[in-house]
Amino acid sequence: MNTSNQLRIVGISGSLRKGSYNTALLHAAAELMPPEMTLEIIDISPLPMLNQDFEKPFPEVAAEFCDRLAKADGVLFATPEYNSSISAVLKNAIDWASRSPQQPLNGKPAAIIGASIGIFGTARAQTHLRQVLSFVGALTLNKPEVLVGQAHRVFDSEGKLTDEMGRGFLHDLLVAFAQWIRQVSPT
Ligand SMILES: Cc1cc2nc3c(=O)[nH]c(=O)nc-3n(C[C@H](O)[C@H](O)[C@H](O)COP(=O)(O)O)c2cc1C
Repeated sequence: MNTSNQLRIVGISGSLRKGSYNTALLHAAAELMPPEMTLEIIDISPLPMLNQDFEKPFPEVAAEFCDRLAKADGVLFATPEYNSSISAVLKNAIDWASRSPQQPLNGKPAAIIGASIGIFGTARAQTHLRQVLSFVGALTLNKPEVLVGQAHRVFDSEGKLTDEMGRGFLHDLLVAFAQWIRQVSPT
């Protein structure tokens, strides 16, 4: 954990889409997080598709990505659901992190949120993401969960999360995430 009392969180959206509900959910998180937290969103679009033929030397862009993960006090993943699982770009980003000698996700506090247009609100994707994060050693918060279903109904045209209940769940998760980071991270 950094020496100041602030918790520096990095957010990763598993969708590269400009109008992504998941990226919008990260913006809502930035708005709703307790004052002890800050959020910086990492754009994972510059990461190439992982190919073991090209991982040595470790690409600069991947090293920079891993560095930002390593320096963060926690990682907030906003996952879309693609065919009952996480998106390829999100898995690719985690795979890059897993190939770095730095192992930036090992022992790193993490939390998962997600939005989809379906009624299950990324429940299946979140289960898969939790499994992958467990394998790379991330310490993922279990509860509460934030599953935003029918996203097209709860975000306005500007990408603002307008649903009060959803905003409340998101706030509760962020408060729990702050507590979780302080509980599991060495001071
Ligand atoms: C390849 C693909 C597969 C999808 N599969 C699912 C799915 O399994 N469940 C679901 O609720 N929505 C599914 N969707 C719809 C997404 O929920 C929707 O596109 C959502 O907006 C994606 O998140 P984003 O807004 O952050 O890009 C799928 C979309 C794509 C492009």
